[in-house]
Parts: sequence; structure tokens; C-alpha cells
Amino acid sequence: MSTAHVGKPIDRIDGRAKVTGAAKYAAEYNEPGLAYGWIVNSAVARGRIAAIDVAEALKVPGVIHVFTHENTPRLAWLDRSYRDQIAPPGSPFRPLYDAEIHFSSQPIALVVADSSEVARYAATLVRVEYAATGHATELDAHLAEGRAPKKRGGIKPPPKARGGPDGALEKAAVKVDVAYRVPAEHHNPMEMFATTVHHEPDGKLVVYDKTQGVQNVHDYLCNIFGFAADDLRVVSKFVGGGFGAGLRPQHQVFLAVLAARELKRSVRVVLTRPQMFSLGYRPATRQRVALGASPEGVLEAVIHEAFQETSRFEDYSEMIVNWTGLLYRCENVRLDHAIVPLDLFTPLDMRAPGAVWGLFALESAMDELAVALKVDPIELRLKNYAEEDGNEDKPFSSKELRECYRRAAERFGWADRNPEPRSMRRGSTLVGRGMASGVWESNQQKAAAKAVLTVDGKLTISSATEDIGTGTYTIMTQVAAEALGLAMADVTFLLGDSTLPQAPVEGGSFTASSVGPAVQAACEAIRADLLGYALKLDGSPLAGAKIDDVEFVDGTIRLRDAPAKAVAITAVLRAGGVEAIEREAAVGPSAKQQRYTRLTHSATFAEVEVDEDFGTIRVTRVVVAVAGARILNPKTARSQVLGGVVWGIGSALHEESVLDHAFGRFMTHNLADYHVPVNADVHAIDVIFVEEHDEIVNPLGVKGLGEIGVVGVAAAIANAVFHATGRRVRKLPIKLDDLL
Ligand code: MOS
Repeated sequence: MSTAHVGKPIDRIDGRAKVTGAAKYAAEYNEPGLAYGWIVNSAVARGRIAAIDVAEALKVPGVIHVFTHENTPRLAWLDRSYRDQIAPPGSPFRPLYDAEIHFSSQPIALVVADSSEVARYAATLVRVEYAATGHATELDAHLAEGRAPKKRGGIKPPPKARGGPDGALEKAAVKVDVAYRVPAEHHNPMEMFATTVHHEPDGKLVVYDKTQGVQNVHDYLCNIFGFAADDLRVVSKFVGGGFGAGLRPQHQVFLAVLAARELKRSVRVVLTRPQMFSLGYRPATRQRVALGASPEGVLEAVIHEAFQETSRFEDYSEMIVNWTGLLYRCENVRLDHAIVPLDLFTPLDMRAPGAVWGLFALESAMDELAVALKVDPIELRLKNYAEEDGNEDKPFSSKELRECYRRAAERFGWADRNPEPRSMRRGSTLVGRGMASGVWESNQQKAAAKAVLTVDGKLTISSATEDIGTGTYTIMTQVAAEALGLAMADVTFLLGDSTLPQAPVEGGSFTASSVGPAVQAACEAIRADLLGYALKLDGSPLAGAKIDDVEFVDGTIRLRDAPAKAVAITAVLRAGGVEAIEREAAVGPSAKQQRYTRLTHSATFAEVEVDEDFGTIRVTRVVVAVAGARILNPKTARSQVLGGVVWGIGSALHEESVLDHAFGRFMTHNLADYHVPVNADVHAIDVIFVEEHDEIVNPLGVKGLGEIGVVGVAAAIANAVFHATGRRVRKLPIKLDDLL
């Protein structure tokens, strides 16, 4: 097929707007008379508000109102059954609902004033007396309370054990049986969570929200506040990073809408960076991985157990251990997953949730097994390569992981690695090289798109999806321009508005694979219409042609076999006497694809330098090869993987949300204490896309790339640190004091 646009490294079409400041974010929709809300957060982790006194705050000139649980109207939220699309089983947190404190930093009041500064000052005057009760926030102290989570939509529970894993482990000639500890991490997108609610004279609301799902927020607000669908519209045209933090409506949108509704005026609420730590997070996790192998390195027993924290009101769970049962072939497998409810807010999906922690443990343990067997880590993985999904006994729709190992190893220069730990040096610096596999889901969800082609040859496509920095605007424009043979400049893609055709949240790496096919289908419907008009032209050069006989190229419809026989699309529209053709299409997962396990894979190779005296670690090089089927845009695709690798460096060496259990509070609640990799921490990163064809995964043949880039990176780095130093660190982040 022709590829005028798809597969080309086209610059982001929203890039200029973003770097020039023309792109408007949720907190930038200004209007006269806007009121500003400032959130007051709980100082205790569990208990009750015994008394809350807002009198002093109300005295400050400019303060309009202070919302607390005592004066917030009773609303439809009394129905505890209402949940947002992404909510795990349980009873979602309801801000200002009652006097109960469920977690430290819980929002307990909203001060609304005519300026942000006044609201912030007045918030300091709200007097709160707490009746604190004991809280429990320490995962290690409560592992005995671990239990299976209630089933969460989209999350597969671990498969049933197969074979006799514990007995097989006992008998295995070579074994590794180890435990891994990883901390909580917070998403920390650059853009704070923010909502500006525009209140119209008739009471209708336009909600400019930072979110990964405008329709999810719309439906949540309608349900909570009892609005009719037309009473409010949620808009999110640009998002300054999401990573999963914006999958669920956050409390600032609730508070801003509450205030706008009650005060009948426009209101903005913005979180501060410290308040961002009162939101969901990647949960701290404890794992055991036990691997048993024959002397030849054939896996004979695989056991992976995980405990992760959640809140007391929702059973958050993610797939941590499942990957272990499908990435390698083994007959004797036991995978267990438990949640431990604590006095914390509910965790929230963060970039490759579950796989990041699960693959850190599994791929570290595989490295330990390779060392015990004295076999090359790639050899061990190839020897146990899964040709089908052992969890569900399904074939893979495609799997080019072998080629990922080969291509990445070659580019990295793996052959030059001396397998002996502490054997490689640059001056006084120890050099280590490690590798790991990565795996993530490649799902498709139902999505719709509308295409409008006007007589001037301009196409507008729309869908209520998002661009959280991933490149959605660009790739959807490419898909549409390709389908109709138009120039990129003649196509406009609209997103981030709840009134547009239905789309899922932007998450789970399923936007390209879900919205892309809908865009394609809407354009195909227009193609059929255009051909119909073209055939009616007097003396049509296309006479008798079927849709498969023609192609849409350079603004024309032409015969594939005789490209000189062509008509311009604009001429067809004019002759047809139509101002515009409008077509909407919805596409969902096919029955056929359900018979296959659909995954994207990666192989990551990392080199580190470790200073022998100081224990400082530098990740000097990362090579990652990704098998992600058809690549719509190698430039935006590469950027997705680069971002994932940088996050992997952060997980390995920097990021950690530290709880002070005396207070039950995350103390690292700013970017000085919560470390993320900065430019000086990020060196060469080489991204390879391995060729992979997949006609099963979805009609476009694409796999999502938003998450695979981070999976396995921390293990590759930890394995490199072992190779450099001979120290096996089974916790993250790895710090210099772990190496001294
Ligand atoms: Mo992703 S954690 O589904 O935004």
C-alpha cells in the first residue's frame, strides 16, 4: 500500500503550539470574575475531624466561601455504587463527604476567594481539630493481612497454578529463590492537576480539566452532581503529562465543579506539587521469585508471589505476576498476588502498571539464574522462549522477541562483554552490562471517530480521545491523510472534548490501536461515498471500478492499474453537489483476536559505570529493541520509548516516595526530595524497532508503544550493576550506599 504519511517520521503537529505557549492547558483558561479554590489537606492519616472552624478564614477580604464536610450539599454521591471507568472495586473516595479521615493529606476543605493568593492565605487560617486514631501505613508490618483483590475490570487475576511448582523447585538441580522490594512512586507529570470551570449564565458548565479521559470525567461529574449529559462539557486539548495519573477524575475537578455549581460562578482549582502526592501512586510491592532449572538451563519450576499495598476503601490491583507465566515456557508454575489494605489513598495505574515491578523481579531473578548456571543471560532466555502463552494456552498474534534480543545485542556489542563480575573497567570505574526482556499488553478497546470532508477538500476527524504527549494528534492525522490521499495540512484532528464521538481514556497503550482503526473506518466510509459520486460523473475515468480497484493519492481517486485514470476529490464533491460528506464509525475488538494473546515485547541492554570508591552509578548507554508491529510514526514512537527508558532509569536509581510511618504521610512530596532523572543522568539511548507484522491485533496492525519502553529497564540496569560490582541489589532504587 502507498505510504505518503503513515510510517514517516513526521514532526508533531501540536509541537509548535506547545513550545510557543499557544497551547492552552486546564489552568490557563482565564475569564473575568474567575474565583480560585485552595485545598486544605488533612494533617493526620486516620481518624475524624472533631471540629473545623472557618470563621477566621471567612474574615479575610476577598474570601467568598469555605467548603467543608459540614456545609457541602448532599448529592447523588450518596449512592455509593457509582464509580468512574477506571475505579477498582470498592467505594471511591468522596471529598468533603463526612468527618472521616482515610489518608494523610486528604482534602478536607476548599477555600474560595477572588484571587489565588487570598485563597491560599485564608486556607492557613482554617482551624482543624482531629480525633486521630492509629494508622497503619507500613507494608512490611502487614503482609500477613494480604488477601486476593476483588476482580478489577481489565485486570486478569493470576492464572491457576499448573503442574507441581513447589515440588519441582525442591528437586531442581539449580535454583534461585529470592525476594525483591520496591517503593511507591508518584507520577509527577510536569503539569499539576488543575480544573477551570466556566459557568455559563444558564448554569451550564464547561470543565477544562487535566485528564486522560474527558468522557470518563464527564460521566463521573454527571453521576455525582446529577447533571444531565448536556449540562456540562469536559475539555482537555493539551495535557502536560499523564502516565496514568489522569486516568481517574482527581479531587480537584470534583471540588472545582462543586464550587462553581454552588456559587454559580466560574472557579479554578489547581494542586500544588506537594498536593500531587495526595493522589494515586504506583504501589510499593514485595515479591518472591523462585526459579528452578535443569543443569542445562531448562526452567522446571517458576514461582512468583507479590504483595502490594492499597487503600482500605478500594481494591486496587495490577498484573505483577501474570507476565512470569507467559514470558517463558515452563510446566510447573505458581503465580500469586495479594493486596494489603493500609491507611493510604488508593494507588493508581502508572505507566505499565504491574509489569514494571513484576519484570524487575522476574528479569533480575533470571539474571541470577544465568549466573548460577554459568550461562549467558540471552542464552537462558532463548532456551526457555515461550512459543505460546502458557497461562491461557493461546498462540501469540505475533512475537518477535527473539529478533529484539538479536538486534539489540548486536547494536549494544554484547559479544564483547566478559561475563565475570568486576572484570570490566574504565580507569578506576567499574563497568557493567546487563540485559532484560520486556512485555506489555497490546489491547484494543471500542472507539468511534467522525470524519467530515468538505467541498474544498479539507478533512476534519474527531474523537473524544486525548494526546497526553504521546503524539495522538499527529498519528491520527497521518492515518486519516493516508486513507484519503490528502496532504497532512488538509486534515485536522480534534480530540479532548467530551462531546466528540466516544473513545476510551488514553491509557493502557491502546489509543493508537483503538482510535486508529476508528479513524481508518470513518475514512473508509468516506472513500466509498466518494467513489460512488465519482462513478456518476459523465464519462468517469473510473467507470466500473470497485473500491479495491482504486487508490486515493495526492487528492485524487485513481485506478491502481492505470494511475493516469484519475479524478480530483474536489471535482467529485463539486459534481456530486454536496457541501460535505460526514461519516462516523465505531470499531471494537474482533472475535478473532480474542483467540490470541496480543503482546508487545522488548529487549533492553544497559551499561553502567560505578565509581568504586563512591558507589555512584551512571547509566552510560541503553539500547532497547521493541517489537511493536506497525510503526505509524517512527519519530513519535521513538520518543515514547525514550521517555519509558528515562523512567526506567528513574525507577532503577532515583525515584522513591518515602512514607514517614509516624505520620503515615509521603514526605518526599516535592521534586527536590522526589528524585527523577535529569539530563545529566540520561546518556545515550538507542531505540530499535524490530519488524513485526500482525494482522490479528487490530485492523491497523499497530501495537501501542506508550508503556513497553519502561518495562525491564530497571532490571537491565540492576543486572548491569551486579555485573559491574558483584553486588546483587534486590531493591529499588539502587543507591550508592547499597554498593559500599
Ligand atoms: Mo497508562 S498507566 O494506562 O496512562
